[in-house]
Amino acid sequence: MAAISQFIVLLLLISLANLCNGGITSKFMRKLEASVDMPAGAFPPPAGYNAPEQVHITQGDRHGRGVIISWVTPLSPKPTVVRYWAADGDGNRRNKAHSRITTYKYYNYTSAFIHHATINNLEYDTKYFYELGSGNATRQFFFTTPPRVGPDVPYTFGIIGDLGQTYDSNQTLEHYYSNPKGQAVLFAGDLSYADNHPFHDNRKWDTWGRFVEKSTAYQPWIWTAGNHEIDFAPQIGENTPFKPYTHRYHVPYKTAQSTSPLWYSIKRASAYIIVLSSYSAYGKYTPQYEWLQKEFKKVKRDETPWLIVMLHAPWYNSYNYHYMEGESMRVMFESWFIQNKVDIVLSGHIHAYERSERVSNVRYNITNRLCSPVRDVNAPIYITIGDGGNIEGLANEFTEPQPSYSAFREASFGHAILEIKNRTHAYYTWHRNHDNEPVSADSLWIYNRYWYPEDESFQ
Ligand SMILES: *[C@@H]1O[C@H](CO)[C@@H](O)[C@H](O)[C@H]1NC(C)=O
Ligand SMILES: *[C@@H]1O[C@H](CO)[C@@H](O)[C@H](O)[C@H]1NC(C)=O
Ligand SMILES: *[C@@H]1O[C@H](CO)[C@@H](O)[C@H](O)[C@H]1NC(C)=O
Ligand SMILES: *[C@@H]1O[C@H](CO)[C@@H](O)[C@H](O)[C@H]1NC(C)=O
Ligand SMILES: *[C@@H]1O[C@H](CO)[C@@H](O)[C@H](O)[C@H]1NC(C)=O
Ligand SMILES: [Fe+2]
Repeated sequence: MAAISQFIVLLLLISLANLCNGGITSKFMRKLEASVDMPAGAFPPPAGYNAPEQVHITQGDRHGRGVIISWVTPLSPKPTVVRYWAADGDGNRRNKAHSRITTYKYYNYTSAFIHHATINNLEYDTKYFYELGSGNATRQFFFTTPPRVGPDVPYTFGIIGDLGQTYDSNQTLEHYYSNPKGQAVLFAGDLSYADNHPFHDNRKWDTWGRFVEKSTAYQPWIWTAGNHEIDFAPQIGENTPFKPYTHRYHVPYKTAQSTSPLWYSIKRASAYIIVLSSYSAYGKYTPQYEWLQKEFKKVKRDETPWLIVMLHAPWYNSYNYHYMEGESMRVMFESWFIQNKVDIVLSGHIHAYERSERVSNVRYNITNRLCSPVRDVNAPIYITIGDGGNIEGLANEFTEPQPSYSAFREASFGHAILEIKNRTHAYYTWHRNHDNEPVSADSLWIYNRYWYPEDESFQ
């Protein structure tokens, strides 16, 4: 009798444990090897005198009819011109835009000539060619503008974070590059990892620019600043945070009424994308706080149903790394995310992958002890995608047991794809580097919080 009741208690305990532990910790075991940077020689400068290199584009305006084209010329600031024409137009009638040039010094490094040219008023949903350089150093590229902003416009984003420039980074980029679906990349911060090298060796910013060019020259990457963009090093006289990053990567922050390139927003197809800085002040009365407060009021869900936020340091993270680094920003802003029904929050920083349930933790008021995350149908899904493959290696220790807010976690390198179908549905997949690109190791139909606020975890 006692044995039977013990058995029943045991069964009960097992089923309770299953109830509490809803999430999946992937059993996929990855072979751990050191992540080392690819040699500089793997990315030689392009041929020709003063050939333009490190070409990258990003959205240049509020709605997607503008593009910022950026490149570097090593020896001379000239030419500054970018020639561009619609693919189905007359190639002999080329439009021109001119770059503004910037340079900077960092410790004993002096940058080459960094060009940024903004082109506005392009046609929507149109393929353009563009050409940089002159003589035998002329290089040609192309991009396609997004469709006109609207509620049911399908659009597919790639999602990459913490990329760096190791052999693993190369696999991540190659995997994403081989996927024909991605139309623009949402980049969750931490680009080159130059700061992991002696004196923040800024030549690593140049090799990174050459490494990613095969994608960044052809589709916009939407940038977020991470901690590896800070480059604050007073010990070597470098007191200006974000100096290399802000010289090299321009974003359309002024069209978003922001006063800093570190936080801004754009509309693209059916998405409204808000980029925040985990490493800039966000307390009450600060510029970022004041901006974000006004920003949510501008989002019209019947125009852009999908509200996506990027910030580098995750708020919900169940790895044993960077514990609670995102916590103070969560305390400041989480209630706004709930009130405004943010769909998805993309972060990096943890060098692994994790997807959350829809949870919030906004009830706590110091006295009521209600300080655990709870299911919340108005909450975003938090995705941590710092698994690009940088030199710091993989984060492979989990907190145990897996917290109930964590839906899926795996310590592998990879990237994700978000296919927005219409105002209610988006299909999300995560692709680990160890599989062929068509395989997805985690996938989910994501339902829009404004138009279809059902809980996806029961699908
Ligand atoms: C910069 O300083 C480092 C350390 O002293 C040295 O190894 C490197 O060669 C210097 N680079 C230049 C361009 O002077
Ligand atoms: C490219 O043009 C420059 C002069 O504009 C010339 O000196 C050089 O030899 C040319 N290189 C090649 C590979 O044709
Ligand atoms: C990067 O990956 C591509 C495709 O697999 C490969 O051709 C190239 O050699 C790799 N680069 C390096 C430096 O390993
Ligand atoms: C905190 O919340 C509890 C109920 O959850 C409420 O009774 C109490 O008044 C709140 N305290 C403050 C300071 O808002
Ligand atoms: C939105 O897309 C989903 C998935 O493709 C589809 O099932 C649904 O019917 C679509 N809704 C409308 C209104 O077309
Ligand atoms: Fe980071």
